[in-house]
Amino acid sequence: MTEIRALVAGNWKMNGLTESAAEARALAEFLTQDAVSGCSVLLCPPFTLLAPFASLLEGTGIGLGGQDCHSNRAGANTGDISAEMLKDLGCEYVIVGHSERRAGHGEDDALVRAKAEAAHEAGLKAIVCIGETQDKRQAGQTLDVIQMQLAGSLPDGSGIGNTLVAYEPVWAIGTGLTPSLEDVGEVHSLIRQDLIARFGTEGAGMNILYGGSVKPSNAGALMAVDNVDGALVGGASLKAHEFNGIIDAYR
Ligand code: 13P
Repeated sequence: MTEIRALVAGNWKMNGLTESAAEARALAEFLTQDAVSGCSVLLCPPFTLLAPFASLLEGTGIGLGGQDCHSNRAGANTGDISAEMLKDLGCEYVIVGHSERRAGHGEDDALVRAKAEAAHEAGLKAIVCIGETQDKRQAGQTLDVIQMQLAGSLPDGSGIGNTLVAYEPVWAIGTGLTPSLEDVGEVHSLIRQDLIARFGTEGAGMNILYGGSVKPSNAGALMAVDNVDGALVGGASLKAHEFNGIIDAYR
């Protein structure tokens, strides 16, 4: 079996001002005091905080990532940020295809795939998000949606070195609801099967993160499910002590 190093990633979404650096500093201190052996840790603050966080996190072992990038390398795209710009600031990762971008900005699988490709070209690891809505789950279509999004959103050439998949059921994001451990296991094992079918041994070694209302009280159980190789955390990543409590699942 392939050994996969877990990743616990914090997606701050549109939260945080310059004063929020204190949380990143506190997190770095927690990790220094109580070392983490079983996972890597990543923070994805809003674009405005990437530069200060890049210097703040240097040497702490905490990685830096963006929350989105444009599919173009450069050019007339007012207000957008390219993958190369993220890389230039010190990012290693970028989230693409988050359900809030899919819903709020009309991003479809083809665009998500183009963004992941742009990330790869820039030397970033793409965290490609997929997940079903409540309607689709209630209609019994979860597995179909997951397979379609996965096939459509991952570029050819995806592999261990450049791509992670994040399963985030839309209805579990920010709601306090989570799927049962059995349901998480079912979806993650389907994702694993599809990754192996398409990418072979690379697919066997890619991280599959779970996201949606992960908190210190449920992280241990969720992270112990087969094929769950880390977490993508929203609300609970904003406070260092809470995020640290999730990281505890890997201490
Ligand atoms: P919450 O952890 O706040 O549910 O958000 C999950 C998420 O969307 C992470 O990308």
